[in-house]
Amino acid sequence: MIACTRISDIKNQLTASRRKKKTIGFVPTMGAFHEGHLELIRRSKNENDLTVCSIFINPIQFNNANDLSNYPRMLEQDKKILTKEGVELLFAPEAEEMYPPGEKQDLDLDLGRLDRVMEGEHRPGHFKGVIIVVKKLLDIIEPTRAYFGKKDFQQLIIIEHMVRALHLRVKVVACETFREPDGLAMSSRNLQLTIGERQLASKIYDVLMYTKANAGSVPVQKLQLISLKRLVEIPEFRVEYFKIVNKRTLLPVDTWDDPEEIIACTALYLGDIRLIDNMELFS
Ligand code: PAF
Repeated sequence: MIACTRISDIKNQLTASRRKKKTIGFVPTMGAFHEGHLELIRRSKNENDLTVCSIFINPIQFNNANDLSNYPRMLEQDKKILTKEGVELLFAPEAEEMYPPGEKQDLDLDLGRLDRVMEGEHRPGHFKGVIIVVKKLLDIIEPTRAYFGKKDFQQLIIIEHMVRALHLRVKVVACETFREPDGLAMSSRNLQLTIGERQLASKIYDVLMYTKANAGSVPVQKLQLISLKRLVEIPEFRVEYFKIVNKRTLLPVDTWDDPEEIIACTALYLGDIRLIDNMELFS
């Protein structure tokens, strides 16, 4: 595997492949790989001639300085994993390479209400930081396909919106959430949980499964309230939201009339660690 830290180097590496019309799969990450990342990478390897992975802990998408400084950093271990998986190219820039001092970082894109609900309400500025970095990375790599996990469902919807609105020539591939045997969605943040917290964390999955089991038979708002209550009753959880929303607009739904379009999303703190998860209720 060739690892590049400079934009010019990764672009040079990709020129020949592009000339030969090779398809390029791109997996953008912040590192600290788990099985969920490997699924994205394997899918890209299966569907493209060449796979590029990026590892960049994007400072401008963190709205909490502690969260940024505590985010797990495992570059050397990650590189070994990528080599074993047969990834051809890694782009792992420093922050100054992506955001040269003095360069204004902005992206003029109307996200409507997509970034004002759920994560947007609780992490102001987060999605602005995500779309700025993802647009930059897509401009640099110019992939045929880019792979994102459904665990960050709101991020996925916003990136799909950006790709459509800016007419970017990339196919966004949405990949299923990968779960631990007890149901906890895989996340690099799980590494930061204590043993006790890790055991409790699977209750998020239990509540999502309860919601799925009752979807359609209990009125939406009532079920949302019951599920929220089930989470709030766990004293170690500091719940930010539990919402049943439309998958495309991310706005609350009042009825079960459009079942294929309905998803439950939640975010909560367990100790200092913020966990998010979601579940499509009728698939
Ligand atoms: O999902 C992530 O890991 C990040 O938000 C992403 C898409 C790599 C952008 O920094």
